[in-house]
Amino acid sequence: MKDYFDARYPDVSDLKARAKQRMPKFAFDYLVGGCMEEISVARNRQDVEAVQLRSELLKPFDGSNLETEIFGHKYSAPFGIAPVGLQGLMWPKAPEILAKSAKEKNVPYILSTVSSASLESIAEISEGHAWYQLYNPTDDGIRNDLLNRIKAAQYKVLVVTVDVPTFGYRPRDIKNGLAMPPKMTLKNIWQMVTSPAWFVETALAGKPEMQTLKPYMPKNMPTDELAAFMNKTVMGRVDIEGLKPIRDFWQGPLVIKGLINEADVAKAVELGADGVIMSNHGGRQLDAGESPIKPLQNVSEKYKGKIKIMMDSGLRSGTNIAGALASGADFTFLGRPFVYGVGALGNKGGYHVINSLTLQLTQIMNQLGCSSVEDLPNYLVK
Ligand SMILES: Cc1cc2nc3c(=O)[nH]c(=O)nc-3n(C[C@H](O)[C@H](O)[C@H](O)COP(=O)(O)O)c2cc1C
Repeated sequence: MKDYFDARYPDVSDLKARAKQRMPKFAFDYLVGGCMEEISVARNRQDVEAVQLRSELLKPFDGSNLETEIFGHKYSAPFGIAPVGLQGLMWPKAPEILAKSAKEKNVPYILSTVSSASLESIAEISEGHAWYQLYNPTDDGIRNDLLNRIKAAQYKVLVVTVDVPTFGYRPRDIKNGLAMPPKMTLKNIWQMVTSPAWFVETALAGKPEMQTLKPYMPKNMPTDELAAFMNKTVMGRVDIEGLKPIRDFWQGPLVIKGLINEADVAKAVELGADGVIMSNHGGRQLDAGESPIKPLQNVSEKYKGKIKIMMDSGLRSGTNIAGALASGADFTFLGRPFVYGVGALGNKGGYHVINSLTLQLTQIMNQLGCSSVEDLPNYLVK
């Protein structure tokens, strides 16, 4: 299973097409969609695709090594699995499937606060290798309780997401009346029963719920009240003052996710954060927002070495990962591609995506004549 590669799906677009056939429409829409007119989703792709690299062919070259050390751990590749909420709604047991494949392939898996799996169960599957993504709770009691659970479960890295001061305005989800567990409307029931593999697996796995947050929810809360609960409980604006108690509590590596602006990176450095993930949430929050690949070069020139600079949003291939690393990222993450993988291939999906991205990135580095990930910036066409 660990080396699984399915020749029917060499590209992420192949997985996306297959996942679309197997998932109920409301779940696929939630995964694929962005906010407003989805301009930012498209722009992320355009700006990533515009990066060009220049090979050097006549020098001696002994092959490439993808291993990348970050926060004291040497990963097998310079990419990981970004936090994606409600994963279990999109494919039953998706967090468990992805956490297991990430652990076995030695790449990081970041568990979302709004996951369908409990943080304790993912910590067990990951054997202490997973990272945890926190939406800062507005209630200090909930925040402290969550932080204690994250620490007790021995998560390696804490990632605080700051680019959701308000819910994204997402027309697809508004039209579909998205909720977790899904609402039992005629339309949704039809979509579920006409996705037989999803339907059977969901029946076996049990209805998807937010297991990590469940202890803080009122008992038997109607599905309709979930959005209001989330808005009230965990989706507050996080400013530098809000981050200080988290920095004081968490002694391990702390990463701030969702930054685009150099001024915010400066504040993260000032806070004593260990890393930032430059991200626009995959185009799901600010439709006029800049793609994170754009400010990356400047941020990296200024802050490389002071803080780990990571990037996500719009990466779909080894080429894109190489482009982000060449533009100054120390590490990269991908969100949707891994869920497309699980949607298309079930419990083999994580392995397939990791293996295909590894093959692609290796090919590109060999083509460039680049022997290590840190050397990629030397091949960027400026
Ligand atoms: C369906 C979906 C749910 C997401 N949920 C979360 C989340 O719970 N927490 C978070 O920090 N980011 C979340 N993100 C953003 C991802 O972590 C990541 O920034 C984004 O997916 C990267 O863009 P990409 O999908 O183009 O790779 C979500 C993204 C998607 C597509």
